[in-house]
Amino acid sequence: VSLRPYNTFGLDVKARYFARFASADELRELLQQPQVQAAEKLILGGGSNLLFTQDFDGVVLKNEIRGLEILREDADTHTALVRAGAGESWHGLVEYALDQQLSGIENLSLIPGTVGAAPLQNIGAYGAELRDTFDRLEAVEIATGALRVFTAEECGFGYRESVFKNVLKGQFVVTAVVLRLHRQARPNVRYGAIAETLAEMGIEGEPTPHDVSRAVVHIRRSKLPDPAEIGNAGSFFKNPEVSQAKFDQLKQQYPDLPGYPVPGGVKVPAGWLIERAGWKGLRRGAGAGTHGVHARQALVLVNHGGATGAEVRQLAEEIIASVREQFAVELHPEVNIL
Ligand code: EPU
Repeated sequence: VSLRPYNTFGLDVKARYFARFASADELRELLQQPQVQAAEKLILGGGSNLLFTQDFDGVVLKNEIRGLEILREDADTHTALVRAGAGESWHGLVEYALDQQLSGIENLSLIPGTVGAAPLQNIGAYGAELRDTFDRLEAVEIATGALRVFTAEECGFGYRESVFKNVLKGQFVVTAVVLRLHRQARPNVRYGAIAETLAEMGIEGEPTPHDVSRAVVHIRRSKLPDPAEIGNAGSFFKNPEVSQAKFDQLKQQYPDLPGYPVPGGVKVPAGWLIERAGWKGLRRGAGAGTHGVHARQALVLVNHGGATGAEVRQLAEEIIASVREQFAVELHPEVNIL
């Protein structure tokens, strides 16, 4: 089976077996089949955070569990619990929340991928993260088929991190996510570009969640390539954290280096480092096989069509080496490389 339609990098790799499931029960049935038990398994959501560097010699299980519902209103806290099936599109959930007059995830508008993938890396953008509204998730344990609920604490969220990416990697399949959203709008415009964009849009005073969503969509469209047009998986690298001493030293040499204080150090934008190392807008390969670094956001590697995952990985390795050489800072991939 070609996985080309199932990964936003548009890489033409093959999987030995491919199956879909639309409920936790269907997933359990699949997990009991001997071929599935024996094979290496890859649970696929929207395929928007993956780089395939070779064919996958196992079974791909595509999560198509649907469902969006308000579980409960809580009048005391002016919140509502919203439950979403893991196979729903993330942006679809954002639109559902807006339609239901619920706020809390509008800053996460237009993030590609599915609801079930969101907690794996605690998706975040424009001043918000999944964990800010996360209540719990439901997951099936692959080894036993048992259903388990994970609270926010049990998920171990960090910057683009959760237990599902480290200690519990490959052990659970997320089947549903429950968020606690706000009945009273609480616009979050801490992120400078949102306030600027709202002003450009002529919105004065307190913006509505719809306004914030529109601003975020506008910013994303202006900087990030649409995977339907240009293959990519969003940020290819995480923003690295350096010590305060290291930051001060870099800042002397590069006074315009941006930095955001975090516990224990300073987070610096990988996009800035990559741009300064001269990679922004680079294109490699001829004709259909062109790939490179996005011209408007250096953190995003792109497949203009026909490139292989191995070529993209090669480029990523060269970028890591060049940033290490110029700044003595280590970049780490944010996408899953398979
Ligand atoms: N910058 C450059 N050159 C570039 C890109 C960025 O100098 O080519 C500088 C910008 O000028 C700015 C700073 O880097 O001072 C931050 O840039 P931006 O606001 O575009 O965000 P980012 O740190 O590059 C992160 C997330 C994005 C998220 C944005 C907005 C990570 C790895 N990436 O990017 O997430 O949308 O913030 O919050 O944390 C994703 O994970 O796929 C993703 C797109």
